[in-house]
Amino acid sequence: MAPDRIVVTAGSSAALLLTLALLVNRDDQILLADPGYPCNRHFVRTLEGEAVGVAVGPDSNYQLDAGLIAEAWGPRTRGALIASPSNPTGTTVPHDELRRIVSIVSARGGALIVDEIYLGLSYDAKPRSALALSDDLFVISSFSKYFNMTGWRLGWLVAPERHVRDIEKLAQNLYISPPTLSQRAALACFLPDTLAILEARRREFQARRDFLVPALRNLGFDIPITPQGGFFVYADCSRFGMDSERFCVEALQATGVAFTPGIDFGRHRADAHVRFAYTIELGKLREGVRRLADWLPSLGLG
Ligand SMILES: Cc1ncc(COP(=O)(O)O)c(C=O)c1O
Repeated sequence: MAPDRIVVTAGSSAALLLTLALLVNRDDQILLADPGYPCNRHFVRTLEGEAVGVAVGPDSNYQLDAGLIAEAWGPRTRGALIASPSNPTGTTVPHDELRRIVSIVSARGGALIVDEIYLGLSYDAKPRSALALSDDLFVISSFSKYFNMTGWRLGWLVAPERHVRDIEKLAQNLYISPPTLSQRAALACFLPDTLAILEARRREFQARRDFLVPALRNLGFDIPITPQGGFFVYADCSRFGMDSERFCVEALQATGVAFTPGIDFGRHRADAHVRFAYTIELGKLREGVRRLADWLPSLGLG
């Protein structure tokens, strides 16, 4: 791949913003999974476009698939944005499905944006970038997750060659460049010693997932798909008899355990879902599960 196609950005946030600023004109639509990372719809709205949340659930791995994209595509649709693995569900788009998505979007003359920020944190299969499928994609990633450099605000975008100059012009106007200090620091990510630390950290995340998912299922949360990457578990909490926002507040007050209500990630069945983040050490996760196990029976449900 030509190195010229890589644009270094201030986090993947800037990469997403630049890509959407390039693609979206007033009233253009971008298709997004609902639930999904909330800032994407805000970016589209800021640009006077319309983010179209497409309801996704366990049937499609909580992801857009080619059928859903074809169904939602309309005369104002400019493109589709996928995050694989996803925030908040931790689920991925299978590579064959991604291939179908690439061809359906290209057949409609649209643009496909693939956010691979969590790809390095994949647990069940070797990560495969969408870049292997086509040169005509916008593929986004970051030093924030796998590389653990969130506060350094550094990410990147691989763009089709014909768009790189316009993206540079947008960056120059919007925020000029990512910090030089961060770029120099990030070089250390690729040293063998660092890569060994990062790989150990990935395995630690996997161990947390392997503890947390069955533990939450035992508590009564419904998790139909085991998340394959990232550090989130998206769980159906409807069995506990209250909407997810109230459930989060009551759990926090009663147990001190914090998790996020579905409403932060979209509308589709948002009041029935919560997102757990396993960004804390295993001992604390165990303690959180223990506290929830003590508290949940007091809700008086079977
Ligand atoms: C799916 C997804 N994309 C992008 C981002 C933005 O990350 P950053 O700007 O730190 O690279 C996040 C942050 O949580 C995210 O979850």
